[in-house]
Amino acid sequence: MKPLLLSFLAAASGALASLDLPAGIPRSLSEFRRKHPYKLKQNTGRRIVNIRASATDTDDVADDFLRGLHSANRGGTLKLPQGKTFIIGKPLDLTFLDDIHIQLDGEIRFTNDTPYWQANAFRHSFQNSIMFWKWGGSNIKLFGEGVLNGNGQRWWNEFSGLEILDPTNAYLRPVLFYAENATGLSIEGIHLKDSPCWTTFFVTSKDISLKDVACTAQSNNAAALPKNTDFFDSLNVERVTVERAWVNIGDDCFSPKSNATDLYVNTMYCNGTHGQSMGSIGQYSGEKSFIRDVHVENVWLLNGQHGARLKSWAGPNVGYGFIDNVTFKNFWNGNNEYSAFLDSCYFNQINTTACAAYPSQVNITNVLFDNFSGYTSGKYGRAVARLTCSPNAICQNIQFRNFNVTSPCGGSPVIICDGIHSGIGLPCVNSTSVEATAALREKCTAASMAVLPSATPW
Ligand SMILES: *[C@@H]1O[C@H](CO)[C@@H](O)[C@H](O)[C@H]1NC(C)=O
Ligand SMILES: *[C@@H]1O[C@H](CO)[C@@H](O)[C@H](O)[C@H]1NC(C)=O
Ligand SMILES: *[C@@H]1O[C@H](CO)[C@@H](O)[C@H](O)[C@H]1NC(C)=O
Ligand SMILES: *[C@@H]1O[C@H](CO)[C@@H](O)[C@H](O)[C@H]1NC(C)=O
Ligand SMILES: *[C@@H]1O[C@H](CO)[C@@H](O)[C@H](O)[C@H]1NC(C)=O
Ligand SMILES: *[C@@H]1O[C@H](CO)[C@@H](O)[C@H](O)[C@H]1NC(C)=O
Ligand SMILES: *[C@@H]1O[C@H](CO)[C@@H](O)[C@H](O)[C@H]1NC(C)=O
Ligand SMILES: *[C@@H]1O[C@H](CO)[C@@H](O)[C@H](O)[C@H]1NC(C)=O
Ligand SMILES: *[C@@H]1O[C@H](CO)[C@@H](O)[C@H](O)[C@H]1NC(C)=O
Repeated sequence: MKPLLLSFLAAASGALASLDLPAGIPRSLSEFRRKHPYKLKQNTGRRIVNIRASATDTDDVADDFLRGLHSANRGGTLKLPQGKTFIIGKPLDLTFLDDIHIQLDGEIRFTNDTPYWQANAFRHSFQNSIMFWKWGGSNIKLFGEGVLNGNGQRWWNEFSGLEILDPTNAYLRPVLFYAENATGLSIEGIHLKDSPCWTTFFVTSKDISLKDVACTAQSNNAAALPKNTDFFDSLNVERVTVERAWVNIGDDCFSPKSNATDLYVNTMYCNGTHGQSMGSIGQYSGEKSFIRDVHVENVWLLNGQHGARLKSWAGPNVGYGFIDNVTFKNFWNGNNEYSAFLDSCYFNQINTTACAAYPSQVNITNVLFDNFSGYTSGKYGRAVARLTCSPNAICQNIQFRNFNVTSPCGGSPVIICDGIHSGIGLPCVNSTSVEATAALREKCTAASMAVLPSATPW
């Protein structure tokens, strides 16, 4: 939740320049597009609908866009061509969609009238979310080489210094792409850019697919980071696929929340994120939530907080549930804090005493971390992975296989386990052990990373 990376980068900017990526791994959005080109599939036989584009940056075409979707609904394609911009300045209820294609090769951009949107946006009670628009219905395809632009800079500037999960925070920021009650929704090729808050949020939906998408949120103001711009969030979803995504945002990368079943992720590059995060879940008092049957593979995570992550809430007035059957496979870490991180004493750095007094009621079972490589940032010395299971919760059959993540501190990497039932398949020491305290005490200097080969930095 804190801009923890910045202080590190400031202290170690030389180290960042020397980041060494395995051969063939894209280092920029243009390299990503070259490696994974998006191939536009021709729409055969669908009726084409065109709308007028915005004449100026303030020319709101929301009404035209809505009319265009109505005309293209049930079998047509709305075309938003390259070189054209479509400014949206009012909230849109798009939950009527049924067999529609939207070919976006130009740009859809939201206005940045923050007071207007805060007064008029749609709302969702989960973490006090607001939304520019709501998509829903069935067989919806948004595809093309275009940009969906949340125009987030002003929102980040005005949010600067605030925290999203602070219960007193009243400055709400919209989600860039929100869908509810959608069945069969795919997003392909699109660049999701500069969301004010979460980039996507899928609620009570199934058969969701994202392919060949880029997601970036970059601030021109070092005092106003693009906070909480998570790539993917969800509630109540089934059958989600993410294939080939380039993500450079602040906060979680792929992060299903309560009630997610059957998720498949293959090939993601996440820079500067909080990790591939299951959860958080178990936030709301009395509410059941779960995540199950998840397979995430071929992920390159750089310059972020954690790599593979699972988080559930502890504390007074939390919910209950489980995370079960999650595989994280082929993860390459470069300069992350912990390469694998399980925390069922989330949120707010809740300490051991408080977690014991108000434990999590979320069990975490059958998790596999398979084939992890790369190196950490050294923030936690030689400790490269950490698993903390809350007292009273069950964390069982958590396994590591082919794990080779090193620390820039050198020496033997250490994995820390507290409250994990039975073994993890590798040596693991508790946080109060001599080994863990020695590993955590070590501090690496930038110099120890600077020796890495540095031909093509990010
Ligand atoms: C989704 O469906 C539920 C139940 O049918 C309904 O209550 C809710 O209003 C729908 N949401 C939207 C955005 O249409
Ligand atoms: C990766 O993230 C770091 C830290 O947020 C940033 O400085 C760098 O520009 C990013 N790299 C790319 C390729 O976006
Ligand atoms: C998740 O599913 C449970 C039922 O299994 C339900 O009680 C709960 O309300 C759902 N959570 C959300 C966030 O909808
Ligand atoms: C675990 O999840 C995978 C999908 O990732 C699924 O194929 C498998 O059947 C699940 N295992 C169990 C025991 O449900
Ligand atoms: C957690 O696991 C324990 C032991 O199997 C079980 O008694 C408890 O009901 C589980 N809790 C939840 C929320 O599923
Ligand atoms: C392990 O993961 C790396 C990428 O992080 C991949 O190049 C390698 O092929 C994987 N090894 C196996 C045995 O799958
Ligand atoms: C743990 O957190 C509680 C509640 O914030 C605080 O009262 C207590 O002093 C903390 N204990 C330790 C050992 O830091
Ligand atoms: C572990 O990774 C390091 C470099 O990151 C490499 O030199 C070493 O050969 C690897 N060990 C195994 C067993 O793969
Ligand atoms: C932690 O490990 C040390 C030694 O490895 C052991 O003496 C101690 O009892 C353990 N503490 C807990 C809470 O398991």
